[in-house]
Amino acid sequence: MYSEKVMDHFANPRNVGEIEGANAVGEVGNAKCGDIMKIYMDIEDDIIKDVKFKTFGCGAAIATSSMATEMVKGKTVKEALELTNKAVMEALDGLPPEKIHCSVLAEEAIRSAIEDYNKRKGIESEDSSGCGFCCKKCYKNED
Ligand code: FES
Repeated sequence: MYSEKVMDHFANPRNVGEIEGANAVGEVGNAKCGDIMKIYMDIEDDIIKDVKFKTFGCGAAIATSSMATEMVKGKTVKEALELTNKAVMEALDGLPPEKIHCSVLAEEAIRSAIEDYNKRKGIESEDSSGCGFCCKKCYKNED
């Protein structure tokens, strides 16, 4: 029923855990099965330096989280946003049809973490932009 790769990522999941001080955290859930996936990222200069996950869910959800984190590690934020559940499934040599939604959860979890990163970045850049109306005329008086 499951490919060897799925079994491997289920039995030996990569990147399990939590990143302290992560600057991107995403959490998604599937209302139907009740599974929850949480992704932590350490992003520097738009590059995903580290990524970890915690999944409370089925074996396929654990395998897809593991594979998805492997696939986005070291990638840019933009590249990670392009990760599809189909690509994760292909990398795992397929999933049974009734388990496809588990890979969708992995794609959504990655996206949710990146959305969080972008949101935090947006807030930070707003904060550092001062009044937002600076014409720099005041600097001329310094000469
Ligand atoms: Fe819920 Fe797999 S059954 S994610």
